[in-house]
Amino acid sequence: MTYSTLLFDVRDGIATVTVNRPDKLNALNDAVITELGEAAARIAGDSAIQGVILTGAGPKAFVAGADIGELAATDPIRAHALSRKGSETFRRIELSTKPVIAAVNGFALGGGCELAMACHIRLAAENARFGQPEVKLGILPGYGGSVRLPRLVGRGRAVELLVSAVMIDAQEAYRIGLVNRVVPGGELLAESERLLRAILANGPLAVAACLRMVDEQEGLPLEEALGLESRRFGECAGTADFREGTAAFLEKRAAAFRGA
Ligand code: COA
Repeated sequence: MTYSTLLFDVRDGIATVTVNRPDKLNALNDAVITELGEAAARIAGDSAIQGVILTGAGPKAFVAGADIGELAATDPIRAHALSRKGSETFRRIELSTKPVIAAVNGFALGGGCELAMACHIRLAAENARFGQPEVKLGILPGYGGSVRLPRLVGRGRAVELLVSAVMIDAQEAYRIGLVNRVVPGGELLAESERLLRAILANGPLAVAACLRMVDEQEGLPLEEALGLESRRFGECAGTADFREGTAAFLEKRAAAFRGA
């Protein structure tokens, strides 16, 4: 499959998806959103892909937001549809049962910050910059920014970022919990791959169960969430991977998981 706005490279079980419009700082136009949806479907359906690194092309940007040129020509009906399409696409990424790491290599503004937040884990290069500048354009975030940001960094910090449109650097993003780690730019992809390979050495069904559980527990009352975890725990205990993982520990050897 070929893409006009993405690079899609699969190597040893890891798909690296690169938003590839560097002349527009990888801004999200309709074609990028469509292709990100296609990429998410491909990732879900291809058993050769076990995990994903999502990044941006060029030295400056991860994604500098929705394409403002395209946005400027919209109207309320089309803007609502555009928001739904982007939101649903990002949700597909978030619901991936294969781990997705955002390797944030520069500006992650507006839809770029929202895309990074829809990934399971965020690593930031030292030059990364984050922000939700939509209010400067007279809109609010449309791809989940006002929903995921408070969940990640807390309500007060999220409100400040959303209404001030201030841009923060990688260290500040780390301090408030928006990113998991800050690494030198030259090491971003290698470090993302190292982390992803460490995850992929674990039982894939158990990893998927963690991703699903963390998503599903949000919004559930505590007792219900704990009950759901116990059910999932029981389900995992019925897998061959569980038998292999426990046997490998007891036999002092590395586990060979099959995802079954
Ligand atoms: N949509 C469309 N085009 C964008 C874009 C976006 N979100 N962000 C950057 N670009 C384009 C610029 O228009 C410019 O194109 P041109 O060379 O054809 O004029 C090119 O990318 C380079 O950007 P430029 O602004 O010249 O780079 P800079 O280093 O001076 O500034 C930013 C970088 C990120 C601070 C600035 O581009 C910016 O503020 N972008 C918009 C961010 C935003 O508001 N995002 C939320 C959208 S909802």
